[in-house]
Amino acid sequence: MSTQSVPQIQKAWLILRKGKPSDVLALKQDVAVPSKLSKGEVLVRVQAAAMNPVGYKVMGFLPNFIARRPHVAEHDFTGIIANANGTELENGQAVYGFVPVQLKLKTKQGSLAQYLRVPASHCVPRPSTLTPTQAAGLTLSGLTAYQALFNIAKLEPGQSLFINGGSTAVGIYATQLAKAIGCTVTVSASGKKEDFVRSFGVDNFVDYTKGPVHEQLARNPPSPKFHVIFEAVGGTDVALYTSSEAYLAPGGIFVSVGIHPHGGMSGYKQALHYLWELNRPSLFGGIQRKWKLILVAFDRESFERYSEFVADGKVKPAVDSVYAFEDVQEAYARIMSSRASGKVVVKVDPTVE
Ligand SMILES: NC(=O)c1ccc[n+]([C@@H]2O[C@H](COP(=O)([O-])OP(=O)(O)OC[C@H]3O[C@@H](n4cnc5c(N)ncnc54)[C@H](OP(=O)(O)O)[C@@H]3O)[C@@H](O)[C@H]2O)c1
Repeated sequence: MSTQSVPQIQKAWLILRKGKPSDVLALKQDVAVPSKLSKGEVLVRVQAAAMNPVGYKVMGFLPNFIARRPHVAEHDFTGIIANANGTELENGQAVYGFVPVQLKLKTKQGSLAQYLRVPASHCVPRPSTLTPTQAAGLTLSGLTAYQALFNIAKLEPGQSLFINGGSTAVGIYATQLAKAIGCTVTVSASGKKEDFVRSFGVDNFVDYTKGPVHEQLARNPPSPKFHVIFEAVGGTDVALYTSSEAYLAPGGIFVSVGIHPHGGMSGYKQALHYLWELNRPSLFGGIQRKWKLILVAFDRESFERYSEFVADGKVKPAVDSVYAFEDVQEAYARIMSSRASGKVVVKVDPTVE
């Protein structure tokens, strides 16, 4: 595709102010297509975007003066390079990637638009085995899983991993990455999703609807104990960590995607309680296990290594549902239900598979 065929205006979903998607999102028909690219940036014609909880969470809590709204919604994309701008990418090349939160605050770019400008480093080639809707949701949750397991927990081949939330998108990618290097993987999910999570290679299963997960694990601890626990739901129940001496090996590590109180005073009290329990000194009854928080951040080396797992077919995408560009509110309702099994995808180009 030549740069001449790029239109001057485009359709895009803009976040107008802080609030809920149903109140603050608007589909605009006349948003300017980025016409100036900085060195190292490319213009992508977006084919499909994928939703992430961070999209509606930041929309709901970050004040306008920090978020510099209006800006385009969402982060994950797959598309075609419309202007390679002298980078290592080529016009017409199929890629996938993401606009990290920090970058969006700076550039106002997002994936729920027909075109976006982004550093070439934030794109990798889309394998021809994957369709655009399959590839759209690979990056943000997959990179989170990669960085949590390999950069933070230093998971090694043959080790034993517990994932709380095996059916979250992050959990699905974490399972596949750990299995790819030969780890034993135990996950929690609701019983109705057991077959689904086992299809990604899960070895052992805990049904969280049958009682608190920490109690089930303490009653029936693995032998040897887990080397790593990855909390991939995000919540304020700290018992999985505070009880973990029963099932996490000495020297093992607990990595969490975050503390996400549901709002209101009780939520904040719960979060403070969580922080206290995570940091409680052993003198005051704190437990002898390390914990760390993962905050996904762009890093090219991790992105390249992660994309090799994808290219080799060792990490496969999971798509929960696909929505039309006009039906973004329904896509938000689905991701906000916290019931999706895999990625919630939006076709930006209606003709793609
Ligand atoms: N810190 C970071 O950098 C970072 C990056 C990415 C994501 N996150 C956070 O990670 C979390 C997961 O994100 P995601 O996009 O992977 O979520 P997601 O795909 O939307 O998660 C939906 C899944 O969660 C499962 N689930 C809900 N409650 C559960 C529970 N108590 N125990 C086990 N499974 C449960 C649901 O299964 P059922 O229907 O069976 O309940 C459903 O399959 C979110 O809190 C997100 O904000 C953080």
